[in-house]
Amino acid sequence: MKILITGYKGMLGSDLVETLKNENKHDLILTDVENLDITNFNQVDKFLKKETPELIINVAAYTDVDGCETNRNLAFNVNSIGPKNLAIVSNEINAKILHISTDYVFSGDSLKPYHEDDETDPNSYYGETKLQAELFIKENTDNYFIIRTAWLYGFNGKNFVKTMLQLSKTNDKIMVVNDQHGSPTFTKDLSMAISEIIKTDKYGIYHVTNSDNCTWYEFAKEIFELANININIVPVTTEEYPTPAKRPSYSVLSNEKWENTGFKSLRSYKNALKNYMKIELETKHKD
Ligand SMILES: NC(=O)c1ccc[n+]([C@@H]2O[C@H](COP(=O)([O-])OP(=O)(O)OC[C@H]3O[C@@H](n4cnc5c(N)ncnc54)[C@H](OP(=O)(O)O)[C@@H]3O)[C@@H](O)[C@H]2O)c1
Repeated sequence: MKILITGYKGMLGSDLVETLKNENKHDLILTDVENLDITNFNQVDKFLKKETPELIINVAAYTDVDGCETNRNLAFNVNSIGPKNLAIVSNEINAKILHISTDYVFSGDSLKPYHEDDETDPNSYYGETKLQAELFIKENTDNYFIIRTAWLYGFNGKNFVKTMLQLSKTNDKIMVVNDQHGSPTFTKDLSMAISEIIKTDKYGIYHVTNSDNCTWYEFAKEIFELANININIVPVTTEEYPTPAKRPSYSVLSNEKWENTGFKSLRSYKNALKNYMKIELETKHKD
């Protein structure tokens, strides 16, 4: 399949490219902001009509959740207008589009895992821009896959696992929030899920994360146990650790629809983390 990927240098993008390349059956057109700025409609229009991909995978985004609160124009342009541009042109050239969304479209006031059609009510500007993207895509094309995922970590780029390991080098005590619940998701596992759904015409919105859930504190505990690092981790509340953007306190996504549609459920976050850390720590050891 001829697939155009936006934002391919990012954390998910780089793992996705590797996964799709390994399948040896796709013609990949790799783009990032330098050669395809998704906020620029004329550029998107020209580029897509020249390349005529059968599928566009949009992993480009402005993902600095706190930064989105202050850089609102940038956030809206990249996270909402960009996907809108891609959806309009993909519809014109008869291509499918796969877009990545987030658990932050939900308020987090629930006590049970969110389903795809549950009410959205983002409490951050990042969440608002990501929700607007979903609406723009639905408005402009029928052949879309929207995958909402959460708490991503992968080899390329900043993530919570790397931050924890880094902090442990200079601190013997770390405070970690223990009242936000979610499902940490390995970008490699998500990439494999994406590679499955794009082979189908099972359009719509899906929730896709690694299974099981935890708080950031529980996740940090697991990370240090696997890394064999003895450190004092102190559970704190969101109130004690304020950030510019409000995060949902419970944003676990139910993967039931994904599984009921016939797709394989993703392994537990603990197994995925173990796999990721083995590779990450081995690579670091070699440096
Ligand atoms: N990270 C998470 O925990 C998380 C959770 C749920 C959902 N998601 C979603 O998953 C997707 C991938 O996230 P990620 O963490 O892999 O993101 P990322 O590492 O920040 O990568 C995003 C990529 O998009 C590029 N980009 C930014 N502006 C662009 C533009 N105008 N045109 C084209 N490319 C542009 C970035 O380039 P520069 O680096 O040069 O700006 C970067 O290469 C996003 O849609 C995100 O909202 C992420």
